[in-house]
Amino acid sequence: MQRGDWKLLRKSKLLLKAIDWFGQGENVVQMARQKLEGEYRDQDIIEIAYDLQAGSYIANLTDPKMLTHKEEWGQRIADILRSLGVSSACEAGTGEATTLAFIAGAAGSEVTFSGFDISLSRTLHARDFLARNGVEARLFCADILRIPLPDSSVDAVITNHSIEPNGGFERPLLEELFRVCARYLVLVEPDYERGTEEQKKRMREHNYVRGIAGHLEHLPGRLRTYEGWPLNVNPHNKASLFVFEKRDGTRPSSEFDFVSPVNRRPLAEVGGELFCASEGLVYPTVLGIPILRDECAVVCTQADRFG
Ligand SMILES: C[S@@+](CC[C@H](N)C(=O)[O-])C[C@H]1O[C@@H](n2cnc3c(N)ncnc32)[C@H](O)[C@@H]1O
Repeated sequence: MQRGDWKLLRKSKLLLKAIDWFGQGENVVQMARQKLEGEYRDQDIIEIAYDLQAGSYIANLTDPKMLTHKEEWGQRIADILRSLGVSSACEAGTGEATTLAFIAGAAGSEVTFSGFDISLSRTLHARDFLARNGVEARLFCADILRIPLPDSSVDAVITNHSIEPNGGFERPLLEELFRVCARYLVLVEPDYERGTEEQKKRMREHNYVRGIAGHLEHLPGRLRTYEGWPLNVNPHNKASLFVFEKRDGTRPSSEFDFVSPVNRRPLAEVGGELFCASEGLVYPTVLGIPILRDECAVVCTQADRFG
């Protein structure tokens, strides 16, 4: 079976094991890789590992140094978006919005923001954190591999250490981010190729992404900026800034509507839930957040008769 195929271990069983490992202070992703190699889907363990840590990034901001660091980070990305004339930006893998809040705060009202993450707990923390900081952003849960947005629907797609843990999926991830962006990709991700031997070893051990610049060069457009990112929390996980411009891109004319992550057809609101009639799936909204992942959807081919 290929890495990334649907694996045998049921997600609930994986979650119970992960809760134990997390309670014992173990690294959940590494434990799953050591003990259950080949039995789970990579994005399930990413979801679980990050969900278990939810709240920790916001807690880190009580450290004034970390807060200043994130403010500088937000200002830099906001300046880049301004220099590109970006009108809407979506952060893929937004976590607890502890980067998005500072980008949006620095960018002001010229840019509309949205963000999504594979983890619901982290998205709920993100919603609280954004509200506390007076930032408006449309939030939803989704997998970067299947983003529930139409082609070219957001002016810029941004990431901050989000594709990082999806080693082996670089090409489909970047193609999907590229599909959704109308004009720019603005990525801050750890850079294997420019890393020290120590960083390379660490990135291999954690199964982090590699070869981002090389993969981007195969997409239609040009890599406008490829340079070291100066703000790094971990000196052994240094990132680069990648600004990629799509060939013949044009600014989106309106705000996006969600589409199915399966067949990209429009979703209709039925009884407060999102429904795709052509595939017969209902995408639930949980605690106010739309969950736009096919593995979380409910088969109900006749939902529109009852909604
Ligand atoms: C290191 S954190 C960074 C969070 C945020 N970008 C920030 O700057 O604070 C990585 C985030 O990416 C999310 N993530 C990783 N792989 C993902 C995927 N395939 N789809 C959606 N989210 C993903 C994780 O759940 C996690 O919240």
